[in-house]
Amino acid sequence: GPETARLVASRVLDVPDFPKPGVMFKDLMPLFADGDAFRDVIDGIIAYHGRDSFDTVVGIEARGFVIAAAIAYASGVGVVPVRKAGKLPRPAYAASYGLEYGEATLEVHQDAFTAGHRVLVVDDVLATGGTAGATLDLVERAGGTVVGFTVVLELSFLGGRQRLAPRPVHALLTV
Ligand code: PRP
Ligand code: MG
Repeated sequence: GPETARLVASRVLDVPDFPKPGVMFKDLMPLFADGDAFRDVIDGIIAYHGRDSFDTVVGIEARGFVIAAAIAYASGVGVVPVRKAGKLPRPAYAASYGLEYGEATLEVHQDAFTAGHRVLVVDDVLATGGTAGATLDLVERAGGTVVGFTVVLELSFLGGRQRLAPRPVHALLTV
């Protein structure tokens, strides 16, 4: 709710020119490093979706892992990683998405979900939506049913929500 949004707004650290000149990096790790704040973030995401609305949580490497595992543990379900290319040991589906220069690839194990598994996908930040779009495609190809996608922080000026439409996006804070 609004209190969680205010908490995130007050704690996100803007780091100019990282990872390259002209980019304002949004650092959420200090928020996650604070136990009370981290719990509010995790509980806020679970409360929005409802504790019994998903069977598995997918976290996107790397920063999504931090919140995915906490949500899964607090909800009594398991966690599945979507990883950057070449990290998964068994047969995987791959999806590529464009970066400013070149492209990146994400992967998920082909046997990650049983058919009809209700999957909540989480990440720290939604920017252009390339990462999330590839991940949602992967979950569906692997037989999961995406029931929600949540980020802690949405950077709306980068158009990620439009790119993902009509799939719904939930953000604790949109700027
Ligand atoms: C960052 C962030 C999101 C993604 C958002 O991850 O954690 O996953 O970018 O950007 P997009 O909406 O434009 O795709 P990054 O690729 O930097 O990797 P990391 O999580 O491993 O730090
Ligand atoms: Mg990331």
